[in-house]
Amino acid sequence: MISVNFVCLGNICRSPMAELIFKKLVEERGLSGSFEITSRGTSDYEEGNGIYPSAKKTLEKHGISGTHVSRQLTKKDVINSDYVLVMDSSNLMDVLRLTGGEYGEKIFKLCSFTSKPRDVADPWYTRDFEKAYSDITDGCACFLERVLNERAEEIAYDKRH
Ligand code: 4NP
Repeated sequence: MISVNFVCLGNICRSPMAELIFKKLVEERGLSGSFEITSRGTSDYEEGNGIYPSAKKTLEKHGISGTHVSRQLTKKDVINSDYVLVMDSSNLMDVLRLTGGEYGEKIFKLCSFTSKPRDVADPWYTRDFEKAYSDITDGCACFLERVLNERAEEIAYDKRH
């Protein structure tokens, strides 16, 4: 099982969008059995809250539905994840602060896997949920290609059993 944890600041906009987008990509490939996918926030600002309505609406416009309840990231979550995929440089610094600089080898910016590495700007501030959706979709698709290569043997094994 490959565990992927998407991380942003509030865990009500970008990271739950990434969680649901990536779940759909994985489902479409018939690979749900190989992945454990969730999301967390570096802050507790929105703890217990659902996906922000504009984020949910944007996902639904693109045929993606689902729910998530905001939870703050812990060091244990990082230890238990194979990949911690953050949205921007500020998230990256916050996660490394949480881990005391450890586990850097599994913490990546989501869009670092794309041909145009960049931050996913926070739509909570920009109000541009479509841009967040397209950056996250690009990042998720490129990350999936990477992980299919990196973990090919394990995924092929899961498919046989
Ligand atoms: P997110 O956006 O990190 O993409 O979930 C935010 C949501 C809420 C807050 C900040 C960012 N907030 O300050 O409550």
